[in-house]
This record gives sequence, C-alpha cells and structure tokens, in this order.
Amino acid sequence: MKNKTSIVILAAGKGSRMKSNKAKVLHDICGKPMLYHIINASKEISDDITVVIAHQKEAVKEQMQRYFDDINFVVQDADNFPGTGGAMKGITPKNDKVLVLNGDMPLINSDALEGFLTTDADIIMSIFDLEDPDGYGRVKIVDNQVEYIVEQKDATSEELNITHVNAGIYAFKKSVLEKYIPLLDNNNAQEEYYLTDIIAMAKKDSLIIKPLLVDEEHFKGINSKKDLADSEVIMQDRIKTRWMREGVIMQLPQTIYIEDDVEFEGECIIENGCRITGKSKIINSHIKAHSIIEDSIVKDSDVGPLAHLRPLSDITDTHIGNFVEVKKSTLKGVKAGHLSYIGDASVDEGTNVGAGFITCNYDGINKYKTIIGKNVFIGSDTQAVAPVTIEDDVIVAAGTTITSGTIESGSLVLSRVKLKKIAGFFYKFFKVKS
Ligand code: UD1
Ligand code: CA
Repeated sequence: MKNKTSIVILAAGKGSRMKSNKAKVLHDICGKPMLYHIINASKEISDDITVVIAHQKEAVKEQMQRYFDDINFVVQDADNFPGTGGAMKGITPKNDKVLVLNGDMPLINSDALEGFLTTDADIIMSIFDLEDPDGYGRVKIVDNQVEYIVEQKDATSEELNITHVNAGIYAFKKSVLEKYIPLLDNNNAQEEYYLTDIIAMAKKDSLIIKPLLVDEEHFKGINSKKDLADSEVIMQDRIKTRWMREGVIMQLPQTIYIEDDVEFEGECIIENGCRITGKSKIINSHIKAHSIIEDSIVKDSDVGPLAHLRPLSDITDTHIGNFVEVKKSTLKGVKAGHLSYIGDASVDEGTNVGAGFITCNYDGINKYKTIIGKNVFIGSDTQAVAPVTIEDDVIVAAGTTITSGTIESGSLVLSRVKLKKIAGFFYKFFKVKS
C-alpha cells in the first residue's frame, strides 16, 4: 500500500477551544504531542506526508523534526484563507489518492487508515454516530447517500439533531481536490473556507461519495482539554493492554500511567498508582504502589512504594524503599530502604544506604558527584557534601556530615557533636515536679 497514497495532515489551526497558549496539535498525549501520533500512524502507509502549519509554525515544525526527518511542511495563508479548506490551498500531493487528516485526532492508527484504501470512490469520508454530536460537523444522509456536511455553527436546529457526524478523515482523488479547492468560499458563520463544503459540490456534480462508518475510539477529535483527557484514557488503555498481553502484571491498571516509549522485559509487577515516563525500561522488577519513574532503567530490582526515580537513573539488583529520590545515579546491588536523596551519584555492590542519607550535590551554582564504593555501610541521617568519594569497605557513622574529598577504604568516618546530659532540666524548664 505504501507509496500509493499521499497524506495531508491539517495542523495549522489555533485550537481556540483548548484555551491554551500552546498550539492544539502540540498538546501531549501519553508523553508525545498529539500530532506526533498522527504522523507516526501515517508513516506506516505513506511515504508522502505533508503537514500544513500556520499557528506557532516554528514550534510545530521544530518539535516534529525531533521525531521525523522526511515530512513536508507547508505554511497555510491563514490570514487570507482560514479554515480546513484554506489549509488545502497550494498542496501538491505526489499520488492520485490523497488522505486528508485533521491534526487533532491522535487515536488514529494505520489499520484505521487502511480502511480508506480498500474502497474506490471520488471521495471517501468517515462518519460515526454519536449520542452527543456536540462540536462535530453533521452529515446529511438521504437514501443512504451523503448529501452535505454542515458545521455546528451553521446548522439549523433540525440539522443539529442529526447524529451522523463527520469524523474528519477523507480520501480524495487528487483531481477532485484540484477541481474543488479553488471553488470553496467563506460564506458561513465562521467566515472560513471549509474543506467539508466539497461534499455538497461533488454531490451536485454526481461524483461518487462513499461514507465509511468508523468508531470514536480511533477517530475522536480533540477540541477541548476534556477531549484531551478522554483521549489519553483510551491511549493509556491501549498501551497497558499491550504490555499486559506481553506478560506485565498491573494491579488496578486504570490507576497506572505509562508513556508511549516505556518498555518492559521479563517478569514485571507494577502496582497501583505508578507513573512511568520517557524512555524508561523496566526489566524483571517490581515497582510498588505510587512510585514515579522518569527516563530510567530498572533491572532485577524492587522500587517503592512512593519512590521517585528521576531521569537517567540506572538501577540494577537494588532495593529502593519508600520516600527515596534518585536522580542521574547508578545503583548496583544496593539497599536504600527509606528517606534518601541520591543525586549525581554512583553506588556500588553490597552498600547499605541508611534512612536519611542525602547527597548535597548542588552548591547553588554547580552540581557535583558522589561516588560510593562496595560494601559501604552508611548510617542514618548522613550527608555527603559533594564532590565526595567513599571507597570500598567504609563505615559512615549515623549523623555524619562528610565534607572532605575522599574517605579511604577500610575507614570509619564520624562527625558528631558531643552529647550533653543535664539532669533534671525538664522539671525546671516546665516548672513541674518530678
Ligand atoms: C472539523 C470539520 C467537522 C468535523 C470535525 C471532526 C471542517 C470545516 N469541519 O471541525 O466537520 O466533524 O473536524 O473532528 O473541516 N486547521 C488548519 N487550518 C485552519 C483551521 C483548522 O490546518 O485554518 C486544522 C486544525 O489544526 C485541526 C483540523 O484542521 O487539526 C481541524 O480543525 P478544527 O478547528 O478542530 O475543526 P472542527 O471544528 O473540529
Ligand atoms: Ca476538531
């Protein structure tokens, strides 16, 4: 199928209903901009993809170029020709069959797009039936024939009751676009050039228009932040279902958030309330309730409950308990059971990190490293004011603040204020009898 179809994705609109400073198509869904997901699905069936941009065009282009290097960008003359029809002006697809996609439908996948390639017609348009058609263009069907599409803002009260809506993906013969795009006008409530007006014109000229019945699960359009959240639930469900089928155990999966690029391998258990993002990879590990893992690798380990692995943590064969935060650190064969901040550090095999250990990695200007060797016993309530190196086989006594550079192998390091005991002070201070 590839190479036979050109795809045009309309991504130039403001998206005013999102009530956001960010262009609509750049809003994230499962960790990636919604436009990313649409291009990604499109690439599976086409080598000729054009994205129409205008609003925040530099940002949209720049963000997409981080992921794709073979997309054509065309800038819409949105001042003179606003609207989805205006967006199609001056587009020169390579192939005779052209799929046009709205840029706000990230739930689309290549299987759903292939539905447009199997039938032949001058125009194939996607339709679904909704109990609440609010926001969508209504499709007037008479005797099983599509007559026209009317936008909500232009619809009569009778038309507003129509429950067949335009899902927003069309397949056109290139000649149809070439003929009708120049004929569109903006005589409507929004004073925009509507791509959807092609339908009525083509119908008048007796072209073959075929409706393709589609499902909301793949064709839902995003106009508001509520739509964004609803669509994310659907995409989350897909991501988690895929991984559960691959053998990952998830407890209360509806409470777990896993981004698109996360990977699992081997036997993994993810408890309720976890959030795993970025390019994290979890291998043979147990992630306990309400832990957050960002762009990190966890192998043969258990993490949480309530732990936070920030980006670039590399955790192997390690136990991380509650209220432990790790950032950009490598832990291998370590136990860090409670209440710690381990940042810009490496901690080696057999080392025990006591409750309340903190790497003081930042002096307000620069960040410094803490290197901890093998079999180190770090007592509770201790700090390493980085840069610090603790060699193998060291005992760090509870309450110690390490400020010097290197603690040599085999040592005990201890910094404590001498304990004072003042007998009877309590009774004197609170003026009570013993
Ligand atoms: C559009 C359809 C509507 C359909 C709905 C499906 C039209 C006129 N209406 O309405 O029938 O039910 O999609 O989701 O097409 N865009 C541009 N340039 C513009 C305006 C919009 O590129 O000047 C892009 C937007 O970035 C967006 C897409 O086109 O990705 C759709 O625009 P939007 O304003 O969301 O259209 P709807 O009102 O939802
Ligand atoms: Ca829309």
